[in-house]
Amino acid sequence: MSTKRLTDTPSDIRTAAAILADGGLVAFPTETVFGLGADAHNPQSVADIYAAKGRPSFNPLIVHVADIAMAQRYVHWTNTAQQVAQAFWPGPLTLVLPLRDDADLAPAVTAGLPTVAIRVPRHPIAQAVLRDFGRGIAAPSANPSGKISPTQAGHVIQGLDGKIDAVIATSQCDEGLESTILSLVGTPTILRPGTITAAQLSRVLGTPPDQRSVTADHDQHADIQAPGQLLSHYAPNGSVRLNAEIWRDGEKRLGFGAVACDLNLSPTSDLREAAANLFTMLHQIDALEGDKIAVSPIPNTGLGLAINDRLMRAAAPKT
Ligand code: TXA
Ligand code: MG
Repeated sequence: MSTKRLTDTPSDIRTAAAILADGGLVAFPTETVFGLGADAHNPQSVADIYAAKGRPSFNPLIVHVADIAMAQRYVHWTNTAQQVAQAFWPGPLTLVLPLRDDADLAPAVTAGLPTVAIRVPRHPIAQAVLRDFGRGIAAPSANPSGKISPTQAGHVIQGLDGKIDAVIATSQCDEGLESTILSLVGTPTILRPGTITAAQLSRVLGTPPDQRSVTADHDQHADIQAPGQLLSHYAPNGSVRLNAEIWRDGEKRLGFGAVACDLNLSPTSDLREAAANLFTMLHQIDALEGDKIAVSPIPNTGLGLAINDRLMRAAAPKT
């Protein structure tokens, strides 16, 4: 298959929506990372996502919708969902809510769970495709499973060229890290940290959400109720050493703060800048000669939690 390069003109957006309606796969930018979209109602298209990414079928997908009204077609809506959605949608927050009986999603979207992960992206191209398409788009990050997430169209092409129908090859992703995932089934719980922090959610919820610990999912297949993420993920080709206070010989140096290094996530120690740069710089440093990457310590507070979550998985032994 040859992968079409689309732009963000209205006619290309219509083409993207038509490819989706026809059962095809289209990668598109969101404010977090590029998503690999399929019609969430079409079982064959959803199966094709898993195949193109080489993704394990027990790991469910996020349904992207244009607005709260579209979300309500798929999930049982609650007052808490309304408050949180009003505060953070459109934006980098995914809510896990009970699946409606009449949702009519392809079963593989939820990997058979009674819940569904859903979000309204803020990126104008994602919004335009969703409005044109008119129903839910299932979309994981547009990278081969286990690899570094794509923040540029070039990353998508590098990983998936020839395996998907089209990519909207324009625009960057300014947040640079995947959405925060908040489960509202039972006690509000952060399943994946992201750029919307526990402190921000706490202000809207009135109490701090629980946080699923990163090490809780060591057993990658056990916890089917909250599949979360795999421990080894975002893996560069090289090995990764974290919390490097000093550099060792032969290491490619990914710095943070005022340090001498090959690439710096944020010379001024700004966590927002570091989050936005993380995947882009992991792609860049992986492409430099050498097979050892070392990363400066990143403070483990606020947005630093999300950055360290991704780094820890990038450094985990590959399975
Ligand atoms: O920012 C993002 O969220 C990006 C863009 C494209 O929207 N998408 C993304 O998708 O990161 P993906 O597939 O790479 O990650 C989805 C995560 C997985 O960790 C999956 O286990 C979790 O969402 N998930 C999906 N459905 C779930 C559910 N019903 N319960 C718990 N976790 C769920
Ligand atoms: Mg992903």
